[in-house]
Amino acid sequence: MHTFQEIDIEQMEVNPFHMIGNDWMLVTAGNEQKANTMTASWGGMGIMWGKNVVYVFIRDSRFTKEFIDREGTFSLSFPEEKYRKEMKFLGAVSGRNEDKISEAGVHVGYCDGVPYIDEGSLILLCRVLSATPIQPEQFKDAGLDEAWYSSKDYHTMYIAEITKLMAR
Ligand SMILES: Cc1cc2nc3c(=O)[nH]c(=O)nc-3n(C[C@H](O)[C@H](O)[C@H](O)COP(=O)(O)O)c2cc1C
Repeated sequence: MHTFQEIDIEQMEVNPFHMIGNDWMLVTAGNEQKANTMTASWGGMGIMWGKNVVYVFIRDSRFTKEFIDREGTFSLSFPEEKYRKEMKFLGAVSGRNEDKISEAGVHVGYCDGVPYIDEGSLILLCRVLSATPIQPEQFKDAGLDEAWYSSKDYHTMYIAEITKLMAR
């Protein structure tokens, strides 16, 4: 397991477009008995309700969603490029069907009871502030529903406070 140190959010110098959209992240949730993780490349970081927050978008079908909803916490882990193969795997297979964390060869660590993937070089611990289902009636761009939701597997938007930031 790696050693992480807590860093101040002011020290974080990242490009969220690149970090999330190109490099991807692992959304991990659960407890000491069982945790699950999935790859995500949609989301953001910013300020809401006076707090430093992340925005993540999780489709209804994801096993990870059950863990987030149950615990009200999750982590975002940002592994380096050398873990691209593992991230593709964790984004293609569901933990509902197999023990994908072991199969991918990645490791779960815990901080403040929240699971994270130890292969990340940066870890954000997050506490859910709101969970808002995205519904087709809300779309102002009529093409979105057809383009992204042909199987009606809609996203829930989670806005979550960043409670701790850890770097290797
Ligand atoms: C590059 C990449 C990005 C992804 N981004 C998201 C995302 O932002 N939201 C989402 O719900 N699923 C996303 N997925 C799909 C999930 O990672 C995938 O369905 C995963 O198998 C879900 O695992 P689970 O059922 O164990 O939670 C992405 C997959 C990949 C490969």
